[in-house]
Amino acid sequence: MTASTFTRMDASTPEQWAVIGDEIYRNQPRVAESVLTMLRSLSAITDGFATDQLTHCLQTATLAERTGADDEIVIAALCHDVGKAVSVANHPAIAAEMLRPYVRTDVYEMIRVHQDFQGRHYYAYFEMDPNAREKHRAELTPDQYALAERFADEWDQMAFDPEYETLPLEHFEPRLREVFARPRF
Ligand SMILES: [Fe+2]
Repeated sequence: MTASTFTRMDASTPEQWAVIGDEIYRNQPRVAESVLTMLRSLSAITDGFATDQLTHCLQTATLAERTGADDEIVIAALCHDVGKAVSVANHPAIAAEMLRPYVRTDVYEMIRVHQDFQGRHYYAYFEMDPNAREKHRAELTPDQYALAERFADEWDQMAFDPEYETLPLEHFEPRLREVFARPRF
């Protein structure tokens, strides 16, 4: 019997786990589709900004692409606020962990710390430290820090313009499916 028929893990067999492993591999495309569904749901979230959150994410990715960022960075930029579909409070961690198996470390870190780097542009209004990004300097390499700065200052904080020619989600979909096609661990 190779089907996954165990009713408790301590009664499982290697053969059953091989079936499960094959199924997970075969069903990997559902990951990209789930991310796309979450992204599309951001069109219903505006929360007082000039653009809805899907437009903001698309515009962040568009700005990254138009200034020469590579595909992993562009797709991470597209997904950076996808956690807002679940919880604004801890959305950087949600997006970062969704991306983590699929992108380089510097791209993961860029998303993980993005809110504190954005804080340069608004934390003061909430009596928070606008230099909160500095606390990440010790844990990031200089290159990682520079990428996180570029993300926040040149792309993310710039991406709330309803008049900007933002590329549609369809433009990014093939590369999103490619990035989420193979976990690295
Ligand atoms: Fe953002």
